[in-house]
Amino acid sequence: MAVALIVAAGSGERLGAGVPKALVELAGRPMWLWSLDALARCAAVEQIVIAWPPEIASTQASLAERLCTSVGIESVEGGASRSESVLRALRAARSAEIVLVHDAARPLLTPELAESVISALSADPDAHAAIAAAAVTDTIKRADASLLVSETLPRNELWSVQTPQVFRREALERALGGADTELALATDDASLIERSGGRVIVVPSSPENIKVTTPVDLRLAGLLLAARHGPSA
Ligand code: CTP
Ligand code: MG
Repeated sequence: MAVALIVAAGSGERLGAGVPKALVELAGRPMWLWSLDALARCAAVEQIVIAWPPEIASTQASLAERLCTSVGIESVEGGASRSESVLRALRAARSAEIVLVHDAARPLLTPELAESVISALSADPDAHAAIAAAAVTDTIKRADASLLVSETLPRNELWSVQTPQVFRREALERALGGADTELALATDDASLIERSGGRVIVVPSSPENIKVTTPVDLRLAGLLLAARHGPSA
């Protein structure tokens, strides 16, 4: 069995909604509820810990507990960086061997995707982490500061990384035990494991599992959720 950590403590500056991003309404619900709902329906998940923006932690925590009764819910106040929010949630989690980390900013998560990333890690005893990722469809080039192209990267080797990311607990604890400066720069947790030579495996995922970063992402996520759940969603 696994514990799932949902990091929802960001401010959502690039979305610019005037409220923390996880609270923004999306297809009739606060954004965080889509991820909570998907993880609560994942049979391998025994507990969900949510890291909230401190100013809304107590109100949203009681709402989450009221709306989701099928699995244990724990809440913590998030930290100044994403990694710190993950660490705080991890400290509050039960002592399960497998830890799934998911961004509340990815509301298109499905229980099936969470299940398949957990299964991929369980199936490879040498792996430290398994991560959802979509195959890159654009051609990706490297350019310097003057916008001069220096390289075209081989597309068949490139993956656009998502969450959920699933870890063996001791590997995640070790990765999050690094220097604060290193943690503050990490945009995902698996990169911290790669840096110390850990084995991270990719689980191919749908490009539909988008991250809501900007207003256009929010519109797209709303359309995708309405298409999935019907116009009332
Ligand atoms: N996150 C978090 N704690 C932080 C920063 C981010 O829990 N201190 C979470 C966000 O809530 C989000 C995920 O990490 O679910 C991915 O971060 P991102 O998309 O960058 O969200 P924000 O940091 O909120 O957005 P921005 O960078 O535009 O301010
Ligand atoms: Mg951010």
